[in-house]
Amino acid sequence: MSATGLAGRRVLLGVTGGIAAYKAAELVRRLGDAGAQVRVVLTENAARFVTPLTFQALSGNPVRTCLWDESAEAAMGHIELARWAEDILVAPASADFLARLAHGLAGDLLTTLCLASAAPLHVAPAMNQQMWANAATQANLALLRSRGVGVFGPAAGSQACGEVGAGRLLEPDDLVAALAATRQLRRLAGRHVLISAGPTYEDIDPVRFLGNRSSGRMGFAIAAAAAEAGADVTLVAGPVHLATPAGVNRIDVRSAREMHAAVMAAAKRADAYVAAAAVGDFRPLEIAAQKIKKQGDGGMTLQLTQNPDILADVAALPRRPLLIGFAAETEHVEAHARAKLERKGLDLIAANQVGGGLGFESEDNSLTLIGADGVTPLPTASKRELARQLVAVVAERLLRRDAERGAGRA
Ligand code: CTP
Repeated sequence: MSATGLAGRRVLLGVTGGIAAYKAAELVRRLGDAGAQVRVVLTENAARFVTPLTFQALSGNPVRTCLWDESAEAAMGHIELARWAEDILVAPASADFLARLAHGLAGDLLTTLCLASAAPLHVAPAMNQQMWANAATQANLALLRSRGVGVFGPAAGSQACGEVGAGRLLEPDDLVAALAATRQLRRLAGRHVLISAGPTYEDIDPVRFLGNRSSGRMGFAIAAAAAEAGADVTLVAGPVHLATPAGVNRIDVRSAREMHAAVMAAAKRADAYVAAAAVGDFRPLEIAAQKIKKQGDGGMTLQLTQNPDILADVAALPRRPLLIGFAAETEHVEAHARAKLERKGLDLIAANQVGGGLGFESEDNSLTLIGADGVTPLPTASKRELARQLVAVVAERLLRRDAERGAGRA
């Protein structure tokens, strides 16, 4: 596979303690051959296997081994190094390093950098085959994968310890090819993607509100997938309890009107807007200044007024982004979604069935993408996986729109 995607790329190579550390020296050369700029960070244990001087000579840059190196902190501090990196590759990644990474420990320079950087993180495990097969290692790997960490290898074969099995570090050429392949997946590089997610809360009085059951997970997964694909991502989030995905610019809002203002401000420079939020259609006409008290035994009537339609207002912008709406329906999913696609003038609508344990509060979901030109079913999968598939469709649509606009000008 061609490694051209790495030309000029700033790659931070982390090397951890293990006999395979010697192969990392060759890896520095190969990354350099592919055009990458490489800076190397060794853990203390890695420096027992290969000296910093070796990596300094091969990378042409100073090598860091310690969080507390004062002269290095004065020259290129660890936060600056974390920002400098466009990719972090840890090869070899020992079982101990993977465990520390999985649990967010930051006791040394390399783990600190991994936590402090928004760059895509890739690990190439290398260890004894029993350590690799150990349930603890596999659980740590699963956790890292679920957070979007790329795992390269390991290969199987004879090991330095004399055993045979899975746990060998991939060869340097294969590692370079694997890293280059992730670059080719970065289909949204240079694009700005705006995403709205979660519910809106419409206050009734200081203690009560009208809300809905959206968890925000689908929208957050789309934001993570768009960032993974290289987009500049703005995520406008209603009230949810979710961590911000790496590399995503998050704006928190509460009501539909706040969401409207934040989305309209960002939409002007967006290439695509994915409206995954469950926006409250109505809000109380007035918000009571004090807690509303019961009036005798009677009921009460709450007067509601309609909220602005955010999607419709973005659709009316002169240079509107590609528009992807969501239709969460409890019945006649496709027919309702198609009607919304047309009514709101969208490019695509992602329809899903909600209620009865599906949709809002579950980890898995399924979607049907409907456009004027056809229907693409995305069968049940984790929200993360579905998000990746949706982002791939968005990237393809943007390319198509560029081509059409180019043809229009010609
Ligand atoms: N939406 C929006 N602004 C609103 C209401 C909805 O931008 N005030 C967006 C949602 O984010 C979603 C899409 O419109 O992408 C469809 O939302 P939905 O509430 O299902 O559509 P409605 O037009 O409100 O249709 P209905 O309530 O009749 O089902």
